[in-house]
Amino acid sequence: MQNKTIKEGAITNAFSAKNIGSSGLRLKNSFIKSATFEGMYSDGIPNQQLIDHHVALAKGGVGMTTVSYGAVSADARTFDTQMYVNDESLKALKVLAQKVHEAGSKVSIQLTHCGYFSKNKKATKILAPSKLFNAYGALSGLAYSQAMTESDMEHIIDDFVKAAINLRSIGFDAVEIHMGHGYLLSQFLSPLTNKRDDVYGGNVINRSRFPLRLVAKVISAVGLDFPVLVKLNLHDGFKKGFSLNDCIHVSKELEKIGCSAIVLSGGFTSKTPFYLMRGKVPLKGMIKNASSIAEKLTMALFGPLIIKAYPFKANFFLAQAIKVRQAVGLDLVYLGGVDSKQGIEKILEAGFNFIALARPLIHDPAFLNKINQGLIEKSLCNRCNECIVEMDREGIKCVLDSAG
Ligand SMILES: Cc1cc2nc3c(=O)[nH]c(=O)nc-3n(C[C@H](O)[C@H](O)[C@H](O)COP(=O)(O)O)c2cc1C
Repeated sequence: MQNKTIKEGAITNAFSAKNIGSSGLRLKNSFIKSATFEGMYSDGIPNQQLIDHHVALAKGGVGMTTVSYGAVSADARTFDTQMYVNDESLKALKVLAQKVHEAGSKVSIQLTHCGYFSKNKKATKILAPSKLFNAYGALSGLAYSQAMTESDMEHIIDDFVKAAINLRSIGFDAVEIHMGHGYLLSQFLSPLTNKRDDVYGGNVINRSRFPLRLVAKVISAVGLDFPVLVKLNLHDGFKKGFSLNDCIHVSKELEKIGCSAIVLSGGFTSKTPFYLMRGKVPLKGMIKNASSIAEKLTMALFGPLIIKAYPFKANFFLAQAIKVRQAVGLDLVYLGGVDSKQGIEKILEAGFNFIALARPLIHDPAFLNKINQGLIEKSLCNRCNECIVEMDREGIKCVLDSAG
């Protein structure tokens, strides 16, 4: 009985207001909608569907919603119809921020550079820590990346800084710098893709030098009263990749430079894309969506071999995330497999102040309100992952019959 009362207290606490880091930004509860690529753009500009999507999440009870993949420049896009942070996008994002605020939540955006994970034929250069074979872009004629120079690094830092300043100026409450999932900054962190023999390659101190410098510059540009979150891998999901020990090192450094919170995740989009999600690989739909016959054939022939599936388990990153929780003091956002009231309680008991969710909120944007009101105990999302297929069609959505 006493245990039950403690747990009820924890849930009540999760639904009460709290500040994120020392920025002064107050969320109405502990819950953050994790970035999921929405695919809701018209000619690369956020459309009404994107606004409605985030307003529904705000009305459904999240403390803060996160707009996904805000490419920091035209070259930072994974493909050429993706949104990037320019004057036109900022106009639409300003409306989005206003509408989310009116619906009672805060709003952040994920700032990203794809690095070599690109099939953006309009990119002037495909940049990465090293010259790398780009299997993802090879069929689009982008077979190799160029190793970045110091000048490329400075340009990219500048792009992140400008994007963060602009988003702050149009009313966003925070930004999240994407340092995970095998995108550019994660490519620097990972020994798989960072083959440099200068001060940016080798041990984790060197591999993290550029990503940390970039975050520090963004923080100093926007000021400590504007939260800068970082999405960071706990593990790349393969041997000889970025490890949990590396993650602990980088987390300590992020704490020193004033990062407001770290969103812990894992996986590497070009190698272990389902490590970060778990559940079924929706191969049929992915083949249908492939942009050329050659890509369809490659996926059909090699898909099952190259896209490894990982079984879903509730709170699948919790054991690794606890190791980071024990090592650092800054706010950590737990993410991965949160799908029930009981699961939420376990994360709170492990000392996490903030919790991010993706698929339960794609399935039902009102999931959190329903948990809070005691109407449900668990999400009905079954991790079919067909939402991944939908995001590349007409915008992310759940294909299951009924929400709730
Ligand atoms: C359809 C889909 C799209 C995603 N897009 C992104 C993305 O753009 N950026 C990102 O950091 N994570 C992305 N993710 C990963 C999620 O943010 C999250 O890490 C993952 O789904 C695990 O959380 P969950 O178990 O609550 O769904 C995506 C996941 C899904 C299912």
